[in-house]
Parts: sequence; C-alpha cells; structure tokens
Amino acid sequence: MKIPSRSHVHMLSYLVVLLLLPLLASSADPDPLQDFCVADKSANSISVNGFPCKPASNVTSDDFFFDGLTKVGNTSNIFGSTVTGGNVDNFPALNTLGISMNRVDFAPGGLNPPHSHPRATESGVVIDGQVLVGFVTTGNVYHSKVLNAGQMFVIPRGLVHFQKNVGVGKAFIITAFNSQLPGAVVLPFTLFASTPSIPDDVLTRAFQVEEKVVESIKSKFSS
Ligand code: GLV
Ligand code: MN
Repeated sequence: MKIPSRSHVHMLSYLVVLLLLPLLASSADPDPLQDFCVADKSANSISVNGFPCKPASNVTSDDFFFDGLTKVGNTSNIFGSTVTGGNVDNFPALNTLGISMNRVDFAPGGLNPPHSHPRATESGVVIDGQVLVGFVTTGNVYHSKVLNAGQMFVIPRGLVHFQKNVGVGKAFIITAFNSQLPGAVVLPFTLFASTPSIPDDVLTRAFQVEEKVVESIKSKFSS
C-alpha cells in the first residue's frame, strides 16, 4: 500500500476543515432532537443549555401561543422606548427551538440605546412609524437607514446597533432572533451601571474624559 506523503496529509486536513467551516459558522442555538420541549420553568434541576421539558402529557395548546407582544410597552423612561421580550423566559414553548421575538415601542424621539446580542442575529420590521436603524461593523463602519412601516432590517450577530424614532408620532417594531434567549449587552448600562461598577480610571482612560464626566454619566443610571 502506498503511504500518503506529508503534503497529501496536510492537504486532506485543510479540505476537511474547509468542508466543516460552513457547518460551524451557520450554527445558532443547537437543533432540537424532538418536536417540542416546552420549558418546565418550575423544575428545580440544573440545566446546561435551555430548560428541562414539561412532560408531553401536561402540554396543552395554550403552551404554543403567547400574547405578550400585543400590549403597547410603557415608554415613560429616560430613553423613551421599551423592549417587550417574547423569548423562552416568558414563552416557554420556545425552549430548544432556536428562535424568539421582541416588540419595541418608541415615544416620539425615543431611542432603543446601542446594544448587542451575544447569541443571535436580529432581523426586524417596522410596524408603525418611522425609525432610524443603525449598526457598526467590527471594522468600525456605520450602516444606517430610515425605515417606514413594512420595511425590514437585519443586524448581524453580536454587532452594536440601535433604533431611534425619527417620525412625528409613536413608533413600534417587531424583531426576531435565531436564539431562544439572544441576551442583550446594553452599552450605557454595561459600562456605567454594572454591579459592582467599572472603576472610574478605566472609564476616564477609555473615553479620554475627566472623572467628573464619568461620575455624571454613572449618576444618570443609578437607581
Ligand atoms: C432591537 O434591537 C431588539 O433587540 O429587539
Ligand atoms: Mn437588538
């Protein structure tokens, strides 16, 4: 039998890696191995990825419907916007299915502040009003557009983005994620309102400002 040369072995390994890459890159939440696994939020057991399933015999039609996104969110807050989640936390049927949705309501001029989702790509559609949607790539390029009702956008996974109501009245959008729990890193809170807080000298150096500026921003988010 002919023994393959070292360069052939190298070429073969490259080929295997090249073939596997698209599989790895396209994964979001893992695929389910059953029709459904309605989360048993009351189960007091350790869960590694998602939640344990309710016994199928206890599952009813109501488990598969959620009306939490029908309600207009309260936008009386410093940002003039509010996010209502339709994820596995309040809609347990999403457990293991790899998707979720939000409703975001905006007062006139309201802002959904810069944030990112560590576990999901986001797409969204404007249902009512006129909304500026923007995100920044890892190459520091800013992409944005003003959208009207019916128009759609996508925010690639993990990138920092925001939406701002730039129309005359209220606005609202529906967003969708390829994760049952996308997570959100909301930059103003992450940087200026963590517990315990990030030391002032880290923030003064990072933003090239004096301590009083950092203290003033922190004070806006302290409850
Ligand atoms: C909007 O950006 C959302 O996260 O729902
Ligand atoms: Mn988002």
